[in-house]
Amino acid sequence: MKISFDPFGQDKNFELSSLLQDIPNGQLFVLTDSHTSECCLPILADSIGEIPYHLLTIAAGEQSKNLASVQLVWDFLLKHHATRDTVLINLGGGMITDLGGFAAATYMRGIRFVNIPTTLLAMVDASSGGKTGVDYQGIKNAIGTFTQPLATLLYPAYLHTLPSAELLSGYAEMLKHGLIADANHWHDLLAWDPQQQDITTLAPLITDSLAIKKRITLADPHETGIRKVLNFGHTIGHAIEAAYIQQGLQPYHGYCVLWGMVGEVYLSVVHAGCPREILTQLTHLMLEYYGKPQCNCRQREQLIEYMLHDKKNKATTALQPNINFTLLKQIGQPIIDQQLPLSAIHEALEYLFSL
Ligand SMILES: NC(=O)c1ccc[n+]([C@@H]2O[C@H](COP(=O)([O-])OP(=O)(O)OC[C@H]3O[C@@H](n4cnc5c(N)ncnc54)[C@H](O)[C@@H]3O)[C@@H](O)[C@H]2O)c1
Ligand SMILES: [Zn+2]
Repeated sequence: MKISFDPFGQDKNFELSSLLQDIPNGQLFVLTDSHTSECCLPILADSIGEIPYHLLTIAAGEQSKNLASVQLVWDFLLKHHATRDTVLINLGGGMITDLGGFAAATYMRGIRFVNIPTTLLAMVDASSGGKTGVDYQGIKNAIGTFTQPLATLLYPAYLHTLPSAELLSGYAEMLKHGLIADANHWHDLLAWDPQQQDITTLAPLITDSLAIKKRITLADPHETGIRKVLNFGHTIGHAIEAAYIQQGLQPYHGYCVLWGMVGEVYLSVVHAGCPREILTQLTHLMLEYYGKPQCNCRQREQLIEYMLHDKKNKATTALQPNINFTLLKQIGQPIIDQQLPLSAIHEALEYLFSL
């Protein structure tokens, strides 16, 4: 593993081999999905070397992130006599790191797990920060825990097989990290060419992006305050995602976040004094690489309805609609818990959909 990351902030150089040294025989487990078992397991197997491990593979896709799959993991661990000394390696995108993290956090009151993210989105976002969980009754991440992995190991070479739309999806979350935290990161990302998708030049930006997420989540592990800055773009983004899903479509999360950020940078320009230039840059990037949202989300009322029911809001009543936004005063200067009149949100949606 070339780049590694210690979630406890000690900057020790975590290497897979040193992590695996103290695992008793037969207690190493690896969880993959049906794509990562093909594309990524050979690389991991190379690093694991001679140590024997039990492999469980789950069908790829968000539809597998449910309690039935958690049960598959628990059953597999039980069948192979996993003990409290077991280490589970989650090798995959956010679906696998969320699911495997949750299964590990709950099996025998918690066993150790190592996340090895294989999508860009999981590298810069899903695999760190301690959130684990599954979807339940149609609600995303409805069941879960805050549990830190033993380590998150980054190895950008896994990205060579990742479909380009998935790469763009993760790149959108990196842009978010730049906007909320660091103008240098934002400019470095704008200088990287999404058309070429060169992984070597992307690799240092992945570490920068992850460092931003790490800094924010360590400051607020249970999302009671400052961590809400990570929701930038997600109020409108989640509403668009929900509208797609309602139409039976499975959108890329990062695309929805990018569209959401365009709407929320618009709101930031009008209501928080954010420089218009940022809106111009982001809009240009969207039109060039992501296109416009294609759902029936032109029905603005429906999008607003989704936003009103976002779980990040405090109590919402008919008399007092409450939609919570993180806005930007400037790059690196986010402001949380901003509530805006519905007319302002309609205006932002109008901007987004009339592009
Ligand atoms: N825990 C958190 O803080 C957090 C944060 C953001 C997102 N998430 C969760 O992450 C999930 C989305 O993550 P994702 O975008 O990584 O989705 P994903 O795990 O479903 O992966 C996307 C697709 O890429 C495939 N894939 C993965 N790595 C590959 C590789 N190297 N080569 C080829 N194909 C590969 C997967 O099999 C899948 O088909 C959602 O469930 C979301 O809720 C969690
Ligand atoms: Zn996101």
